[in-house]
Amino acid sequence: MARKKLAMIGAGMIGGTLGHLSVLKGLGDVVLYDVVEGMPQGKALDLLESGPIEGFDASVTGTNDMADIKGADVCIVTAGLPRRPGMSRDDLLATNVKIMQSIAEGIRDNAPDSFVIVITNPLDAMVTTMKKVTGFAKNMVVGQAGVLDSSRYRTFVAMELGVSVESVSAIVLGGHGDDMVPVRSLCHVGGVPIDKLIPAARLEEIENRTRNGGGEIVGLLKTASAFYAPAAAAIRMAEAYLLDKKEILPCAALLEGEYGVDGFFVGVPVQIGAGGIEKIVEVDLTDSERKMFDESVSHVRELVDASEKLLSA
Ligand code: APR
Repeated sequence: MARKKLAMIGAGMIGGTLGHLSVLKGLGDVVLYDVVEGMPQGKALDLLESGPIEGFDASVTGTNDMADIKGADVCIVTAGLPRRPGMSRDDLLATNVKIMQSIAEGIRDNAPDSFVIVITNPLDAMVTTMKKVTGFAKNMVVGQAGVLDSSRYRTFVAMELGVSVESVSAIVLGGHGDDMVPVRSLCHVGGVPIDKLIPAARLEEIENRTRNGGGEIVGLLKTASAFYAPAAAAIRMAEAYLLDKKEILPCAALLEGEYGVDGFFVGVPVQIGAGGIEKIVEVDLTDSERKMFDESVSHVRELVDASEKLLSA
């Protein structure tokens, strides 16, 4: 059986890490695509030369030609600018929406059967642009945000309690902005509800740290934004698709009535398997979580409206 093919669209900090994780996990052949000449080729060659040490035989190539992603089973998109200190994700909109439009055309023309995972920020608007321009079915276009945000929430809860991260289950829903919704009522540690273990005021601080998780890293790195955890999150989603795991993960998916939202990509739990997004899972939220979710969705709406104006300009 031929190996699967993964195309990383954007070979920067996240793109390179995506390639590395893919070969280490044996997911398939990797193509790194970027607009910068030489860089994707150099990273690909460096990765390839780790094969004898790590024991993988996957092909790893770098390119500046979209035609080389032909036949890709999965495309993971990070092309665009990252944040700098003081910037919100929304500040990236004008630049990244144009980049996303051209990338989406390239994917539509060269990898029409691929499962597309978008990471570029502002995520909710970028994944909407990807869906519109490709015209792909809604089950084949997904945004990565919730897996990362939930992982940050789990990390901070585990640190607070001194327990394994694997004992903490948590999800973060809504848009991938500062108003994302860490769902306190669904956060458990070894089956025990989180509000029985951490006082409300401290939980509030942990949830705010989660909301600002990306900004905290940008503030420390100064010239880059987070890349290890975002890449790990997208690879988890790609793995669920390629291995038909039917795993339920919080992702930005196009809602058509679920959660009372129609026509917008919003972070909700979805089942990912060989059919892409196979199901949207509706969870119960408390009244205050529901209110936060609705506020987050109205922000997504504003962002998408702004991106549509930029696209038609
Ligand atoms: N076509 C292809 N690649 C492009 C294009 C384009 N039109 N425009 C920019 N790129 C490439 C850049 O050359 C760069 O190598 O996208 C890459 C982005 O990589 P980084 O700048 O290292 O950014 P990264 O940290 O990987 O983040 C990428 O993901 O999480 C989001 O906010 C983040 O929007 C940012 C994206």
